[in-house]
Amino acid sequence: MKRFMWVALIIHSMSVSYAQSTWNEKTESLDKGDRDIVVYRSSTCGCCAKWLTHLSTHGFNVTDYIIDDVQGIKDQYGVTSSLASCHTAIINGYVVEGHVPAGDIKTMLKNQYNIKGLAVPGMVVGTPGMEMRGQVEPFRVLAFDASGQLKVYKSYIKY
Ligand code: CU
Ligand code: CU
Repeated sequence: MKRFMWVALIIHSMSVSYAQSTWNEKTESLDKGDRDIVVYRSSTCGCCAKWLTHLSTHGFNVTDYIIDDVQGIKDQYGVTSSLASCHTAIINGYVVEGHVPAGDIKTMLKNQYNIKGLAVPGMVVGTPGMEMRGQVEPFRVLAFDASGQLKVYKSYIKY
């Protein structure tokens, strides 16, 4: 599998410099208290369902709420328009907005960082749930705190 990824990357790198995707590698198993994640999404988003599969594959217990007012949830949890994506998830008091890789949620839980949550704003092709024909786009996972401060949590960019 890993070898296949490299071949795909070499082919892509002929035209554009692409990121190395590492988010689909195996991740550590979760502690019992860290498994339950609640996801709020609209019924029309197919990529949300694929992200939920990504979470389940990596050991999370997903509770999936399909709701009409996704914006109301974002307002409630302090997800600003610059952070917003298609779905909002809550785990152990943390907010996870958008197509954040499972491994990054795990490192946040394990280290109990003093942040409000993680976000991948928008809908980036190449993130978990947004795979399109092996295409990988550079993207960053952002950490945000209660005052709206942003930091780069992880960069999936390799030049
Ligand atoms: Cu999406
Ligand atoms: Cu979504």
